[in-house]
Amino acid sequence: MSSTEQRRTGETLDVDRSDAGYRGWLKEAVRKVQADANRSADTHLLRYPLPEEWGIDLYLKDESTHPTGSLKHRLARSLFLYGLCNGWIRPGRPVIEASSGSTAVSEAYFAKLIGVPFVAVMPRTTSAEKCRLIEFHGGRCHFVDDPRTMYEASAALAAETGGHYMDQFTYAERATDWRGNNNIAESIFRQLELERFPEPAWIVATAGTGGTSATLARYVHYMQYDTRICVADPDNSCFFEGWTTGDTDVTCDCGSRIEGIGRPRMEPSFVPGAIDRMMKVPDAAAVAAVRALEHAIGRKAGGSTGTGLWSALRIVAGMVAAGERGSVVTLLCDPGDRYLDKYYSDAWLAAQDLDIAPYARTIDAFLTTGEWPQG
Ligand SMILES: Cc1ncc(COP(=O)(O)O)c(C=O)c1O
Repeated sequence: MSSTEQRRTGETLDVDRSDAGYRGWLKEAVRKVQADANRSADTHLLRYPLPEEWGIDLYLKDESTHPTGSLKHRLARSLFLYGLCNGWIRPGRPVIEASSGSTAVSEAYFAKLIGVPFVAVMPRTTSAEKCRLIEFHGGRCHFVDDPRTMYEASAALAAETGGHYMDQFTYAERATDWRGNNNIAESIFRQLELERFPEPAWIVATAGTGGTSATLARYVHYMQYDTRICVADPDNSCFFEGWTTGDTDVTCDCGSRIEGIGRPRMEPSFVPGAIDRMMKVPDAAAVAAVRALEHAIGRKAGGSTGTGLWSALRIVAGMVAAGERGSVVTLLCDPGDRYLDKYYSDAWLAAQDLDIAPYARTIDAFLTTGEWPQG
């Protein structure tokens, strides 16, 4: 009987697309992702040494110790679960993502875990080490010359292949359960419980999708903490301008040199209203800060960690000047060995015309005297 006839005779229309084979695959895929989380330990909250007499504790949430080496491991897990549970990720169909690299490394890992192909659409300038890691996890790299075209290129590839465009820049904020479920915010607050200042005055994040800062801010508001959220933005990014002017259509032409953060448009996952404060951090200052981090704790980190750390040190300086005690948290987003040919290469700095010396002197002077030099 045709559906017209059904309507004429008043019968119930009933289309059953349930597929036992697919549901079996889906259950198994979700189990594998959940089991991976169950096998994993939480990341450390490290202390950045500051003079005792300041009465201020600075912490770094070390997200580089996830199995795929960055804070994007949490996001990739959430995006895969969201895509699977929405019925968007299907057996045998590729998952495609626009990424500056870290998300793609983590997504390649989860794609392999559940047995679907993965393609990363990335700027040609993405570090060689990240490309190697994507391929190591069985993914394929597809490069674009203009980072602003990543989104359309990804959507086009998905349409061509019948795959799913994950679209972290849209879905990062909603795929993460911001009320808890061991998200990054809940983990930080739990790890601070026995500290002398368990409720930090500030948490500093950086923004790529904006999802991490949205999760932190929403959690703090939901839990009724007084902690404020600061987002540090690098050169060649428009989050700072968009946030300060309220113009969400703002764009900028150049790609960010700080891999993982800084975007040419206000990404949909960035939630401006939830953020208390923003800082524009010069790229040279970010590199000076990651180098100072290595000196302080013996660890190399990526440029986004430096952008956040510079901003956190400025916040600490403000607290010292105001005679405030308390704690500040920033993020160690990914490891420095991914960027030996960039932030740890003096030749790269020279080629980029970046002079880190004045910023290194500022950090040194601050840590020695407690005063932040003017300028
Ligand atoms: C190394 C690194 N740091 C920081 C971020 C920012 O995180 P979010 O996308 O949650 O804003 C990213 C995002 O890609 C990243 O790759």
